Amino acid sequence: MPRNNATSLAADVPSTSGSSRPKRKPLTKEQRDFLDSALRVNQAGELAATLIYAAQTPPLVNAHPHLRPLMSHMYAQEEGHLNTFNHLIAKHRVRPTALYPLWSVLATGLGWSTAVMGRETAMACTEAVETEIGTHYNDQIRKLLEIFDQWEGDGYEVGDEFRDLVDTLRRIRDEELEHLDHAVEHDAKKAEPHWLLTGVIRAGCRGAIWVSEKV
Ligand SMILES: [Fe+2]
Ligand SMILES: [Fe+2]
Repeated sequence: MPRNNATSLAADVPSTSGSSRPKRKPLTKEQRDFLDSALRVNQAGELAATLIYAAQTPPLVNAHPHLRPLMSHMYAQEEGHLNTFNHLIAKHRVRPTALYPLWSVLATGLGWSTAVMGRETAMACTEAVETEIGTHYNDQIRKLLEIFDQWEGDGYEVGDEFRDLVDTLRRIRDEELEHLDHAVEHDAKKAEPHWLLTGVIRAGCRGAIWVSEKV
């Protein structure tokens, strides 16, 4: 099976040999593994996000028609995120998570069940999921910036492809945090019992992230 290895992603280094072609610093195995698992888990997470919002929308909008524009807006952004990672995972030949079918069922179940429990519960679900996802993207951004520092410290330049990846992660992270704000504005904190719902969903997200990085 072809493995990614994100080997096409590498740091550009100014040529010292007279050739105008930039040399590339090969990624360490640890860096390759990190990029593989980052793209894999992000694609799985964005698939789950689209399914959660898709499952929440019918019961929620049926009971609260004024939420339709908000739900469409958040769904459209999640679809954009998913398309981004579908593209990256194909481009770098990263194996998608083997648990696609399981995540699909769980995400749809989570979206539907929280929406039928009411508007506040649906919003508490969004609050919990987006809190974990925001942290998750921040961790990835931090790790990439550490790698960049290392390269620059060794005299290499960071290629545009890596810069673009960090910009993409930052943009998506900001949109996830915007969803979190929308959820809180729409009474996520009034869900009963808020601590239990968000605690369980956040723990589930962390577990799913941990597994999807590996499997
Ligand atoms: Fe997303
Ligand atoms: Fe989101």
